[in-house]
Amino acid sequence: MSIYKFKKEDGEKILVYDEEKIKVLIDEATLKKKVKELGKKLTIDYEDKNPVLVSILRGSFIFVADICRELKIPVTFDFMAVSSYGNSRVSSGIVRITKDLECSIEGKEVVIIEDIVDSGRTLNYLIKNLRARNPKSIEVCALLDKNVPRKMKNSVKYKGFDIPNKFVVGYGLDFAERYRNLPFIGYIENE
Ligand code: IMP
Ligand code: MG
Repeated sequence: MSIYKFKKEDGEKILVYDEEKIKVLIDEATLKKKVKELGKKLTIDYEDKNPVLVSILRGSFIFVADICRELKIPVTFDFMAVSSYGNSRVSSGIVRITKDLECSIEGKEVVIIEDIVDSGRTLNYLIKNLRARNPKSIEVCALLDKNVPRKMKNSVKYKGFDIPNKFVVGYGLDFAERYRNLPFIGYIENE
């Protein structure tokens, strides 16, 4: 039967699916609270600015859907998809746009909505690429920031959580396209 099953191990809730064990890192209620908090900050900072939310697909689709409903200001949306070459664990640093924005961002106040910053290469590339289109401003709102050593400066102004250097899934994030629909952030224990 193809269904997510939960079990308790040492008092902890664990999702077991197809040999993979997923432990909860950030539960649903904690995510909700943080998204509300970030939404409040953005609402204050972007009052009268009509920002465009640039959501980076696919990982940020749930985050953007939730945070936009916490914004009490007019916003517009655009979407971009990128993929990095190389194997999935060590990013090659070469980022390719697989879906570009539909609209011009010239003169606009842009907020990039990202799921997670790992090496920071994707974000660096995106900022550089979008800056060349002459927006009025660019800021980044990322749900998760992985604790990894980085040479480049951290450009995330609106951050949800600092997390340990683990491979996480859920709330939009996948492992081989699985688990995006989990309502919490978990990590694969036996990865
Ligand atoms: P970076 O370029 O190394 O910062 O990688 C960022 C991108 O890799 C994110 O936008 C995600 O799509 C993906 N990624 C990085 N870490 C994870 C993870 O732990 N789980 C799922 N996807 C991840
Ligand atoms: Mg992503």
